[in-house]
Amino acid sequence: MNTPDPMAAPQRREHPEPHEAARPMPWYLPALTALLLAFGALYIARSPVGDVPARGDGRSVAELQGPAPGATGTPLDAAALYAARCAACHQASGAGLPGVFPPLAGSEWVTGPQRRLAAVVLHGVSGPLTVKGQPYAGAMPAFAAQLQDAELAALLSHLRGQWGNAAAPVSADTVAAVRRDTAARSGPFQGGAELEAFR
Ligand code: HEC
Repeated sequence: MNTPDPMAAPQRREHPEPHEAARPMPWYLPALTALLLAFGALYIARSPVGDVPARGDGRSVAELQGPAPGATGTPLDAAALYAARCAACHQASGAGLPGVFPPLAGSEWVTGPQRRLAAVVLHGVSGPLTVKGQPYAGAMPAFAAQLQDAELAALLSHLRGQWGNAAAPVSADTVAAVRRDTAARSGPFQGGAELEAFR
């Protein structure tokens, strides 16, 4: 702008000639961009996209899925099973409801022969049944389809050691044997007489 200006001084003062500023991009912008690109490339290259389970939180798929119900070596929560499956009728106390749901506490069917007890819970009972001297004629549902042998064994063992009951635990093999022996059965036992005959 140092060339001689043909414009008159006042005009120049009022309307300065527009000019293009010499402002190149600051050096740090391309530097920063290059640095970010390099970081991104490096980050992606080093990311565990190969899905190595040792990275992340380190848990394997099997650990995340948890143990299969009834898997050997898994402690079964028999008390929780009882609360979920039986307590609605037989009550948390095991005392049942007089005249409607028979007691499991002190019941001869609970502390009696193991195979007979397993048969009751596998197939259910519907018919006249005497428990602790009291007659019942309700319908006990079958659990063969809902509970596995190990679950039933844990549950029955729990009942046999609860509320003052003191009978030997029931093994999963016993439940499995009764399940096998009664596989042909399609309905519940027709009351105490038929259960008494079951060996
Ligand atoms: C829907 C209510 C109901 C549920 C749930 C139920 N029961 Fe029963 N249970 C009965 C009835 C009713 C009888 C008596 C059946 C009869 O009168 O023929 C009975 C009888 C029994 C008997 C034999 C009689 C006695 O009192 O000892 C046992 C053992 C038994 N149930 C165990 C169980 C177990 C273990 C569960 C859980 C897995 C269970 N019941 C869930 C209603 C139920």
